[in-house]
Amino acid sequence: MNMTLTRRYRFAASHRLHADALSEEENRKLYGKCNNPFGHGHDYVLEVTVEGVPDASGQIADRAALDGVVREQVLSRLDHMNLNQDLPEFQTRVPTTENLATWIEKMLLERWDLRARLARLRIAETDRNAFELETAK
Ligand code: NI
Repeated sequence: MNMTLTRRYRFAASHRLHADALSEEENRKLYGKCNNPFGHGHDYVLEVTVEGVPDASGQIADRAALDGVVREQVLSRLDHMNLNQDLPEFQTRVPTTENLATWIEKMLLERWDLRARLARLRIAETDRNAFELETAK
């Protein structure tokens, strides 16, 4: 029977939402205070959900292997970073949490060697905002 396992991770990062193609005024209107020139930080909470069938050990996934791929591919690149300046990806794309979720999915799948399938990512940016990405079956 298919079951899911969700692990929760935290990282702190700063960003500024700003589209170069738009005027200063359009950027302010579109992104509000998230467009403030010097950026701001968030304590992001990332939840990674994997789906699979328990093996002979009675587990869907090796938690250490899951933590390892999340740490190496994602947390080590994001924690205490400025998303706009430290990540090549966000020198051309706006580091919204939607775009961040897509980037995290890509990074995890590049090195995914778990038997369980990556099923869902959830990123809480603040207490009021959380984004979920269902990965393709
Ligand atoms: Ni923000």
